[in-house]
Amino acid sequence: MAGTIDLSKFKAKGQETCFHGRHIAPQIYAGLDGSNWRLSDYVARGGYAALSKVLGKDGGSGLTPDEVIAEVKASGLRGRGGAGFPTGLKWSFMPRQFPGPKYLVCNSDEGEPGTCKDRDILRYNPHIVIEGMAIAAYAMGVKTAYNYIHGEIFEVYQRFEEALDEARAAGFLGEHVLGSDFSFQLHAHHGFGAYICGEETALLESIEGKKGQPRFKPPFPASFGLYGKPTTINNTETFAAVPWIIRNGGQAYLDCGKPNNGGTKIYSVVGDVNAPGNFEVPLGTPFPELLALAGGVKGGALKAVIPGGSSAPVLPAALMMDCTMDYDSIAKAGSMLGSGAVIVMNDSRCMVKSLLRLDYFYMHESCGQCTPCREGTGWLWRIVDRIEHGKGRLEDLELLDSVAGNIKGHTICALGDAAAMPVQAMLKHFRDEFMYHIEHKTCLVKQSA
Ligand SMILES: Cc1cc2nc3c(=O)[nH]c(=O)nc-3n(C[C@H](O)[C@H](O)[C@H](O)COP(=O)(O)O)c2cc1C
Repeated sequence: MAGTIDLSKFKAKGQETCFHGRHIAPQIYAGLDGSNWRLSDYVARGGYAALSKVLGKDGGSGLTPDEVIAEVKASGLRGRGGAGFPTGLKWSFMPRQFPGPKYLVCNSDEGEPGTCKDRDILRYNPHIVIEGMAIAAYAMGVKTAYNYIHGEIFEVYQRFEEALDEARAAGFLGEHVLGSDFSFQLHAHHGFGAYICGEETALLESIEGKKGQPRFKPPFPASFGLYGKPTTINNTETFAAVPWIIRNGGQAYLDCGKPNNGGTKIYSVVGDVNAPGNFEVPLGTPFPELLALAGGVKGGALKAVIPGGSSAPVLPAALMMDCTMDYDSIAKAGSMLGSGAVIVMNDSRCMVKSLLRLDYFYMHESCGQCTPCREGTGWLWRIVDRIEHGKGRLEDLELLDSVAGNIKGHTICALGDAAAMPVQAMLKHFRDEFMYHIEHKTCLVKQSA
């Protein structure tokens, strides 16, 4: 079994459960500590100053769309929805001169197990997303946008609608924003509660009123997106970073993190920790520091961590403790930063049972469009289920590996990869637990909860 680490030497810095997690300077998402979310509060914190600056309504000369995109490129901002794609580069793909409608879409579907940051951004600071989207729309020549909000969080949806009303009434949205030539309409769209609707093209289908199933790519949304028109899709946290970047400059944002990993990131630290919550820390923060912010490991020693939401490969404690929380370090260790949900597991966790739970999720959430995913996710679940229940065979381990390998890379969207990668990582790092289950028909971990 992979080694476990006693974390007592890492002194907890606090028991905070919200965005107070770490008072870094600056706090890109200031206001996420549960303070008031109303327009007046946002403006008092410097809100909408970036939009005013871009439109030249702050006494300055304004920024051209190219200058906005250049600033975002300089910031090194990478998409916070999972893949970490450079945001400025994505924005430059939008064909600005395309005649007719173009769209901007915010992905607030947030279905990745363990992830709960986007809903808190919308709950505590909805105007930061509205401002970020307005700036993005200006940069890409877009007049209409949608925020697709997770289907099971009505209160957040309602709050966003209220914030939209406030922004419209104050002239930050609508015709001639702040008296400029720029007009911009933003609408909230209620999601339908399916994980697959977070995949960007399934999300577009869903907005169009169709079944949420991913599209073949190419064509990519930049050329054939919503209603077949050029479309840019970004995650909630990605848009929320934009006002700070415009106010303070791309270089200042880049300097908050580390090279190729600019800015701060909100991590949802969940699982076996004493103070689970969302924590905003600079990219590149050592994992032990983040763990300490979440109050340290609860109920035992650290056994393993899934560092980027349930789709990310699991890492054993020893590997994880050497990581810094950024795209490059986690990738080097063999996993991915993904959505930023850090699922902490103590040494009472049975990895067979944990994988069974994950496999059930992916089987349930597969949209059924691609055979390898539709059938394969069910096979993965059934094989792990029989291992968990003492009916496994030694050859099941090879079978699991082979089924996962035949799903990965053979589907229209990345849900197939998301189902396969956790299986392969569990077998790589915790194979002995699976062997023990098969050979002894019982669990190696006695206190599995
Ligand atoms: C199955 C699946 C689910 C996804 N769910 C989400 C989600 O809930 N939120 C999100 O922002 N991105 C999600 N993504 C990633 C999106 O497809 C897309 O890459 C992202 O919204 C782009 O925004 P970004 O560049 O700002 O990261 C998901 C991808 C897959 C394959």
